[in-house]
Amino acid sequence: MTEKLFNKKPMEVLMQEASGDTHGLKRTLGKLNLIALGIGAIIGAGIFVLTGQAAAQYAGPAVSFSFIVSALACGFAGLCYAEFAAMIPIAGSAYTYSYATMGRGVAWVIGWALVLEYLFAGSTVAVGWSGYVVNFLDSIGVHIPPELANAPLTFNENHQLVATGALFNLPAAFIITVVTVLLYRGIKESATFNNIVVFIKLTVIFLFIIFGWQYVVNDNWVPFIPKNTGTFGQYGMSGIFRASAVIFFAYIGFDAVSTAAQEAKNPQKDMPWGILGSLFICTVVYILVSLVMTGIAPYTELNTSAPIAVAIDKAGDGLNWLSPWIKIGAIAGLTSVILVMLMGQTRIFFSMANDGLFFAPFSKVHPTFGTPHISTIVTGSIALIASGLLPINVLGELVSIGTLLAFIIVCLGVLLLRYRRPDLHRPFKTPLFPVVPVLGVICCGGVMAFLNPLTFIIALVWLAIGIVIYVLYGHARAKY
Ligand code: ALA
Repeated sequence: MTEKLFNKKPMEVLMQEASGDTHGLKRTLGKLNLIALGIGAIIGAGIFVLTGQAAAQYAGPAVSFSFIVSALACGFAGLCYAEFAAMIPIAGSAYTYSYATMGRGVAWVIGWALVLEYLFAGSTVAVGWSGYVVNFLDSIGVHIPPELANAPLTFNENHQLVATGALFNLPAAFIITVVTVLLYRGIKESATFNNIVVFIKLTVIFLFIIFGWQYVVNDNWVPFIPKNTGTFGQYGMSGIFRASAVIFFAYIGFDAVSTAAQEAKNPQKDMPWGILGSLFICTVVYILVSLVMTGIAPYTELNTSAPIAVAIDKAGDGLNWLSPWIKIGAIAGLTSVILVMLMGQTRIFFSMANDGLFFAPFSKVHPTFGTPHISTIVTGSIALIASGLLPINVLGELVSIGTLLAFIIVCLGVLLLRYRRPDLHRPFKTPLFPVVPVLGVICCGGVMAFLNPLTFIIALVWLAIGIVIYVLYGHARAKY
């Protein structure tokens, strides 16, 4: 049994799948669509919610340094992703790459880690969406009872699961349903919708940066790196790193571009653009937003569910007009993140099912819409339940651990494949080889080390469930 864990999916098969429309997915996405897809996935709950909390609890204004630390880890991993995505442009992302390079066992682990990432990222962000929508509706006089807009369960500070008194997060479930219907209908409609939403959210963020900058009070940036309190991770250098693990969530999503490779018109050229272009734009935006946010409001006041709105209020009457636009922009931004995450998830199930590793109906394509419709419905249903019932804090860190694991394996995959198959055509090559992939492994491992220990335990339980599914189903049916 164990020797099969090292079976590899032949590169030639992958290339063939990439060149033909073997699975019936339509090729409709161009370069700009792919960059928009990346930005659509990246800018979301991380910048709109977590940045303020990370500044308040861990890093102060130096949270902008935390963004640089996380961007480095993502940048190294992104370069490795780009090499793979251009070389093996088929759906499935890190899962596919590891199947070709490290074999079935690693591929399964990564596929399962990616499910953790995309499925729960969709749910996590839907919960954030619910918070902003409830807040916005409240400001126009429509009040949704808290029992119907919050998770019934949460973790207290002793890491125990406790009841909140709420019943179900209805707005979160609602947005997951809408996005699932869009994805069921087809990628083209979804991409157009995504482009509009990305435009709206970038516009409001630039308005915040440009107008907010005029209200920055220099004293709020002093000291820029608050002194460590004596507790590891609370301000000072260790705080910058702890914050970088928390706001790492804000960068998750550029890898989702690679899950759409099979729907790209010209994947060899456009995948690196999509991945690295979106990552670069978001890094610049994040650093500017975090500087303006901590410049307008003292960082100690940013530990809220809507820190950008708090910062605007702090600026006084001059920025009042911007407040509703920021909320609408946040709602639009979070919607596009949910869209890309759930789309990525359906494509991962799709690829795993095509290889025989996951339940066969997940590889079926809708005869009219050309979408993996069964995978879409199941993904949407699970995400709906998770977003309605589960607490956002635990979900967010789980998403990060799944992603970091995938990033590390992608970097290792690039290293391995360059030595094993130097002959393969690589339209895009990771520069400074082998320094970049090695730094990718080190940086992503470093960020992971600053996550909550409880997250590691839940991730191990998730892995155990995955192993059971593999043993009972995938092992006997895998094609390679
Ligand atoms: N990067 C995405 C967000 O910030 C997941 O919401």
